[in-house]
Amino acid sequence: MSETRRVGPVAAIPNDLEAYWMPFTPNRAFKAGPRLIARAKDMHYLTVDGRLLLDGTAGLWCVNAGHNRDAIVDAIQTQASELDYAPAFQFGHPKAFELANRIAALAPGDLDHVFFCNSGSEAVDTALKIALAYHHSNGEASRTRLIGRERGYHGVGFGGISVGGISANRRHFGAMLAGVDHLPSTYNRERQAFTKGEPEWGGHLADDLERIVALHDASTVAAVIVEPMAGSTGVLPPPKGYLQRLRQICDKHGILLIFDEVITGFGRLGHAFAAERYGVEPDMITFAKGVTSGTVPMGGVIASNTIHDAFMRGPEHVAELFHGYTYSAHPLACAAGLATLELYRKEDLFGRAKMMEPVFADAAMSLKGKPNVLDIRTVGLTAGIDLASYPGAVGRRAYDAMVRGFEDEDIVIRVTGDTIALTPPLIINGDEIGDLFEKVGRVIRAVA
Ligand SMILES: Cc1ncc(COP(=O)(O)O)c(C=O)c1O
Repeated sequence: MSETRRVGPVAAIPNDLEAYWMPFTPNRAFKAGPRLIARAKDMHYLTVDGRLLLDGTAGLWCVNAGHNRDAIVDAIQTQASELDYAPAFQFGHPKAFELANRIAALAPGDLDHVFFCNSGSEAVDTALKIALAYHHSNGEASRTRLIGRERGYHGVGFGGISVGGISANRRHFGAMLAGVDHLPSTYNRERQAFTKGEPEWGGHLADDLERIVALHDASTVAAVIVEPMAGSTGVLPPPKGYLQRLRQICDKHGILLIFDEVITGFGRLGHAFAAERYGVEPDMITFAKGVTSGTVPMGGVIASNTIHDAFMRGPEHVAELFHGYTYSAHPLACAAGLATLELYRKEDLFGRAKMMEPVFADAAMSLKGKPNVLDIRTVGLTAGIDLASYPGAVGRRAYDAMVRGFEDEDIVIRVTGDTIALTPPLIINGDEIGDLFEKVGRVIRAVA
């Protein structure tokens, strides 16, 4: 892609935007002022009118290897010409097994079995179903309760919104799953504001799980699911000791621990998985996004040997788990996944994220003191910046910042409520980090 910031029109602009009902987007506002992207390469997008934008969000936390990397593009093209599809049930294709092996090798400890699906939401529903079926197959069918956490995001399936804790994602959708409870959020601004990495305060909040278990009785609790770092709610790194404590309490009561690593998996925190960064081994990990660097939809669950083996008991001609998707381990996704993991390895992108973490954190913290900045949190190549809300219009200031960023500063940033979340591709360099935060600083001033 050319280095010039404006190369002229590169794609036709659709003359009717009405039919496409856009996800998690204010449709009317978007269609009144569309932000249309035509192409991408490495750290940049190109808009339909030829403006070069710096990607501050790796798409939606997924394009960890950077955009349109040749090795991944080639792998997808080759795969499309060799095998478009093979039945996912009762048949297989070699790359599905190869990719599962590669992912299992990256995962910690005895997390050795991979069940594929197509998104983070499906991964979460799959993990919750495996948890229930696992206890059932172990003669503990009374273990049906699922414990999530306030402010948690686990996608948009009914399972995910039930254990999730973002009220806007729940309030319009009825009663959801029965028997779900929630841990308190780990965030406390008074105690944690402007922390780089894991806050000192808050590890004890995991003890609330003891209260929940005492209330419902351990014999009714199947699993706890948390994001090791809560991403979509606005970047909340886990307090020191918190995840270790959750693991201990789960072990004590025979409860499965699921880490939802849809965002934290594949390098975001400087490791293959956050489980490795924190030295805590869950019973299952959900993943999506970074597994194909966002190129082809794919998600999955990595399960421990103990869980997997518990299913391998019945008659050998009968499926052990009555669950799966037409596109589980789709050939294009597997080809993309293999090429992506190879690129991560060859370029040591997880190590690179770790190395750049202090540079990224310093650049983020340089925004402390800018108008309306209430808190900044950083971990890995991730930053959350809380802005003060306009009275009576929560989310408006950050929304305006996102629009100003696109229109005036040629950056793509993500906002949730009045928090700006910055999560660039792991290939970002020092100059680009400086550039990104300078632009974000100007945007914050522009919406003061
Ligand atoms: C932790 C977590 N779980 C699940 C999901 C849902 O993933 P998807 O949008 O692919 O369904 C997300 C998406 O951001 C996520 O951050």
